[in-house]
Amino acid sequence: MRQKSTTMASSIAAHRLHQRQEQAERSVLINCPHKTSEKKILKFLSSHGDINKCFTYESYGMHAVVEFASQDSVSSLLDGAGIPSNNHESMVPYKSRLMTLRGLTEVTNQQSSKLSHPQTTIPINELIQRLSQEESIDQQIISLTEAYQLTEENSRLRFLVCSLLKDIAAAYFPECSIKPFGSSVNGFGKLGCDLDMFLDLDGISGRNLKMPKSGLTLEYQMKRATSERGVTQSILTVIGECVDQFGPGCVGVQKILNARCPLVRFAHQPSGFQCDLTANNVAMKISELLYLYGQLDPRVRHLVFTVRCWARAHGVTSSIPGAWITNFSLTVMVLFFLQGRRPSIIPTLDHLRDLAPADKSVIEGNDCTFVCDFDRIQLQNNTETLKLLCEFFEFYATFAFSKKSINIRKGKEQNKPEVAPLHIQNPFETALNVSKNVNGTQLERFVALCQESAWLLQQSDNTVPKGGRTPTPWGLATLLLPLQVAGVKSRKKRKREPASERIKGLLESLKN
Ligand code: GTP
Ligand code: MG
Repeated sequence: MRQKSTTMASSIAAHRLHQRQEQAERSVLINCPHKTSEKKILKFLSSHGDINKCFTYESYGMHAVVEFASQDSVSSLLDGAGIPSNNHESMVPYKSRLMTLRGLTEVTNQQSSKLSHPQTTIPINELIQRLSQEESIDQQIISLTEAYQLTEENSRLRFLVCSLLKDIAAAYFPECSIKPFGSSVNGFGKLGCDLDMFLDLDGISGRNLKMPKSGLTLEYQMKRATSERGVTQSILTVIGECVDQFGPGCVGVQKILNARCPLVRFAHQPSGFQCDLTANNVAMKISELLYLYGQLDPRVRHLVFTVRCWARAHGVTSSIPGAWITNFSLTVMVLFFLQGRRPSIIPTLDHLRDLAPADKSVIEGNDCTFVCDFDRIQLQNNTETLKLLCEFFEFYATFAFSKKSINIRKGKEQNKPEVAPLHIQNPFETALNVSKNVNGTQLERFVALCQESAWLLQQSDNTVPKGGRTPTPWGLATLLLPLQVAGVKSRKKRKREPASERIKGLLESLKN
């Protein structure tokens, strides 16, 4: 049964991605006067053709995403649009599908914006309250996932921003496409996460072209460069410049070209997304792999969401780059932990590679082969509940980080090949450590928080909720409250303290 439904999930997912891209091409993004009713927008725009979907949200003012049934409607709408006139400023004459609706007066009626779709998560305090009302830790974990995961609307908006960016890049490379990757599509995205974009030039790079064997042929003359990396850098330089100079709504453009993986970073204000544009094929492949793992068993997504949320609440991860553990590293740590359960919950990457059909997927010299057909994957019969969360914390509270490397290819810890506080092998570029940036202090904090959290969850077994209007935080909710990790080593002392006292203390710290 499971395999049938996941097979369907896999093909539906590929179809959905394509469908989302195609929907985005037929969509426009419109800045509207505050609290404009969707009805009014629809009435005005439907003169250009049938509308499949329209929703509004707030980010630097009210915006509407409008998907037309036909591409012709978008052309008609663009043809009918005016050029802004302003005596004091000059306009950059670049037309895009990001527009402003003028001529409507603001509505003061509160109800008009009730359909506005939030694009960020609920505040952590609200989440803690919500979780406290649940009746089991399993239910809390499911509830957290539901509260945090990307919505249908947010996902559409991500594809639309990629499509708007593609219009800019297409000025140089008409056949390019821009695809979201990372947590926008790997199944582990949280509302508000960044938008990772892949500039796909494979159609014109020659990488995937099959040359005819004989007869007369023509080929394009192309400028030659010394390295693939150099080509990527020069492409991202011009596209980054275009985004900066001509891209409406794109601000704070930084070209980070000397990074291992060159990228252009900017904020897209109308969507509120922090965007990273790269041309890294391997990262795309990793996203596909993570998606596959997330679909194999629901416990994967639940645990990843919970661990990511817990890590953010305690500053284990951060939106600022630094010596912190990243969400990506945490995800790999969860996968590794699940591979190690007995029986294992998910297979190793080597196993997924062995199940793949003969033709290999080699990207930039790295073997990125793995099976995509869910039917070929035979899962073991593991029935553990989401008590796995406690096991996860215990596992990493005692993991031999000083000697061992985390390796999802083998599903077994390996001896560390190099000195680094935390070593997590990159699944495809196997000579690389994805957590190279993490320093000893950050790792120690992570371990201390794992110890503390495992201990707290064990206490929770005796602290089942009593109900009431404002329920006391319990179970997973207590894990999201500030924790005092400095005193982890003196846990024996604290064990004598009654659980109610600890909860009281935690509540006080939340108030503060
Ligand atoms: P959030 O953005 O934090 O929600 O998670 P994310 O999974 O999108 O992570 P991030 O934006 O940092 O990276 C985007 C994607 O790039 C990841 O999902 C991976 O596929 C890939 N990636 C991230 N870090 C590394 C790394 O160190 N090495 C490689 N090869 N790929 C990485
Ligand atoms: Mg990301």
